[in-house]
Amino acid sequence: MLSDKVLDNLPHEIRRRLEPYVEAVQLMTATNNAKVLRSMAPSGVRGLILQRGKQGVPTTMPSHHRVYFDWTYPNDQPEMRELYTRAKEQQWNGDDLPWHIDVDPENPEKPILPDKFMDFEALRAAGIRLTKLEERRLNASQASWMLSQFLHGEQGALFAAAQVTEAVQFFDGKLYGSTQVVDEGRHVEVFHRYLDTKMNKLYQINDNLFVIIDALIQDSRWDVKFLGMQIMVEGLALGAFGTLYQMTQEPMLKELLKMVIQDEARHVHYGVLALRDHFRNELSESERREREDWAFEVALLMRNRFLAFEVYEEWFEHKLTRKQWAEFVTNSPGFAIFRQVMFKRLVPNLRDIGLLTDRIKPHYHRAGLMQYFGGASATQLSGDQLIADLDAA
Ligand SMILES: [Fe+2]
Ligand SMILES: [Fe+2]
Repeated sequence: MLSDKVLDNLPHEIRRRLEPYVEAVQLMTATNNAKVLRSMAPSGVRGLILQRGKQGVPTTMPSHHRVYFDWTYPNDQPEMRELYTRAKEQQWNGDDLPWHIDVDPENPEKPILPDKFMDFEALRAAGIRLTKLEERRLNASQASWMLSQFLHGEQGALFAAAQVTEAVQFFDGKLYGSTQVVDEGRHVEVFHRYLDTKMNKLYQINDNLFVIIDALIQDSRWDVKFLGMQIMVEGLALGAFGTLYQMTQEPMLKELLKMVIQDEARHVHYGVLALRDHFRNELSESERREREDWAFEVALLMRNRFLAFEVYEEWFEHKLTRKQWAEFVTNSPGFAIFRQVMFKRLVPNLRDIGLLTDRIKPHYHRAGLMQYFGGASATQLSGDQLIADLDAA
């Protein structure tokens, strides 16, 4: 790409400042659907260029959805009603997690991320030598960064769940949604408490994650909010939580993730139920296509979300280029597993709701995301099954 060549010839300091903008433009122009570009571009400018999530002050976003009342209280969606019943029975209290366990993020005996999560050899090849202690600290930084992004995602999920509960037309969906709002509140509580009392470190929101949250919170269409939060962000989060659950040897975090995963399995299940018929039967072909392109654009943003540039800025900003860092992270064994598992959960759900047609498949192929096309979708997997699968693996 021309812009990459130009960057390669610039002095390091100028390159360091320009690189994020070049990446932003490349990401935002990845789609050739004008409607998707129009709906995502303002969020892209706010997140990637103006970095509104990184200013250390509260962010306000206008929301444009309509609140849907129904004074007849119909029993209209038996499967959603069943999820509502299950959600009430499975409520839990964040205070009951084993908070008494002492956590040392740099403890080599019970690492939060495994030693081999990053390939320190590759860093040495780029001229960066870390001591054993520094390696453990960098690993702990990556863990805090990841958990911080989970926490910011949960804040987005809390508000999106509240909006969707207002906007959706299914009455049983509204009852179910009320339990999801409580679930997401609890997730914010436990992730924040863990970061605050166990890791003692909170990273700012990643720009790409900010763009997705900004776009779906402000979009007036309930199904786009649903698609963004319930299918994309929650679907990927479910994969990420599962991977961390398998990898971590820190017992307190393992227990926390086990409880959160069971809630998230219900959330994604609800998203698939609500969107499946809507996309297949209610939308015109051009409206469906717009959702399909929107989902692919978000998938790219999510794939890039796991490149941890916030850790780069803290540790290596003056030593490596962003491109070198991106390559290092992309090739790190731990991150590679994360990416695979995240999309393993997401892709079957996109297929189930009708957003993975032959038209878009080549794009997923090119992004290396099609190998899980045949996997089980959220409606086929309960939270207990998910945990049993993860324990068996
Ligand atoms: Fe959540
Ligand atoms: Fe959720």
